[in-house]
Amino acid sequence: MERRGFNSSFGMLMAAVGSAVGLGNIWRFPYIVGTNGGGAFLLVYISILVFIGLPILISEMVIGRRARSDSVDSFKKLAPGKKRYISGLISVIASFLILGFYSVVAGWSLEYLIKSITNQFSGSSPQVIETMFTSFTSSPIKPIVWTFVFLFVTIFIVKSGVASGVEKVSKFAIPVLFFIVLVLGIRGLTLEGGMDGLRFLFYPDFSNFTMEGFLAALGHSFFTLSLGVGIMITYGSYAKDDENIGKSSLLISICDTTIALIAGIAIFTSVFTFGLNPGEGPGLVFVTLPNVFPLMPGGYLFGVAFFLLLALAALTSTISLLETLTAFGIDSMNLSRNKAAIGIGVCAFVVSIISSLSLGDTFSIQIGGLSFFDFVDKLTSNYMLTIASFIEIIFLGWFYKREYLKDELTNHGKIKASFFKVYYFMLKYVVPIAMVLIILSSFGILKSA
Ligand code: TRP
Repeated sequence: MERRGFNSSFGMLMAAVGSAVGLGNIWRFPYIVGTNGGGAFLLVYISILVFIGLPILISEMVIGRRARSDSVDSFKKLAPGKKRYISGLISVIASFLILGFYSVVAGWSLEYLIKSITNQFSGSSPQVIETMFTSFTSSPIKPIVWTFVFLFVTIFIVKSGVASGVEKVSKFAIPVLFFIVLVLGIRGLTLEGGMDGLRFLFYPDFSNFTMEGFLAALGHSFFTLSLGVGIMITYGSYAKDDENIGKSSLLISICDTTIALIAGIAIFTSVFTFGLNPGEGPGLVFVTLPNVFPLMPGGYLFGVAFFLLLALAALTSTISLLETLTAFGIDSMNLSRNKAAIGIGVCAFVVSIISSLSLGDTFSIQIGGLSFFDFVDKLTSNYMLTIASFIEIIFLGWFYKREYLKDELTNHGKIKASFFKVYYFMLKYVVPIAMVLIILSSFGILKSA
């Protein structure tokens, strides 16, 4: 089948960065670092990102470009007759669930965009700003309306096709978002509590670190790089033949981590300046930064721009989620692009509604002591993405021909891939062993750190 592709190498890179950079960096990363105790977690997280996340990112791109199909079908093509496409199926379910709860947070960013346009933060105390957040997210209707708006836009863009949609939004939104976050980070550094914030984020104090931290770090490295759900497989399948996959993957990881770190600096400096709790949880970014904007020259505009860009960054990520699901609908279920995008989008909205309601009192579903929202957040990153990625790399490392991988990474011998030996060693041994150890430790099976 003729497949749509990206128009340029830069466009493909920006779309992949657009998928990777999103609420994961600005909303989820700081809150996960905060609830897991700060610097020690960061150190573990970065190591996992380099030694596990990056090799898996490269692998997904390789699978996609080799098979030139969506995640489920790619596995069928590369391993005909084998049942390994089960990981593809876990992926499809995970991306569907993620799309559901992620759109809720994306909806919050729209509400906050309006709040900043109508200037509701200036003059409010940190406590008032905190209450504003909880009363909004726990109300039954408003967050769901915003989620609907958000999903509607996502569906519309995915319906109109990948090159014209994803590429255009990403090319513009990511560089500008980067700039705004950078300015916020710099402003954060000059706040009174700046140094305490930096210390919390960067000083590795292992007395605050628990075994679950490993699993959270692993899960988040998959989440932030959009791994394990076949997104990078799908984007890999759209990549051009002369795309240098190794180099692109490295660039994607560097961009992603840089944005997360700067966002972390902006947020933790203000947490300590305004006496907020770093372990606040999913509300962290929404209760910290609104305190900072009024203190900046041009703060009004920065506040508006920040939430606008947060929404756009979320949009490039939800586009990528719905795009993978749509590709699955088209290639594996023979649906038209329109039907696939709309049908799947509407089903995801149901997940959104339940997630959003679970944060309030009206209709609150709890699973294992967690709200449905937190449950889906944890279940998808820490378990589903992890298991799907694990199956992927076992397949590539142990059941797939080494020469094929090398062939793909060198563009059939046209470019050098000097990292290949290291990559292959990681893929085959280091990554699977490390993942098993982390999962076992999180179940308390391995006791000593
Ligand atoms: N990586 C995105 C972020 O950091 C979120 C995201 C997009 C994602 N696609 C994904 C997460 C696929 C997991 C799987 O915001």
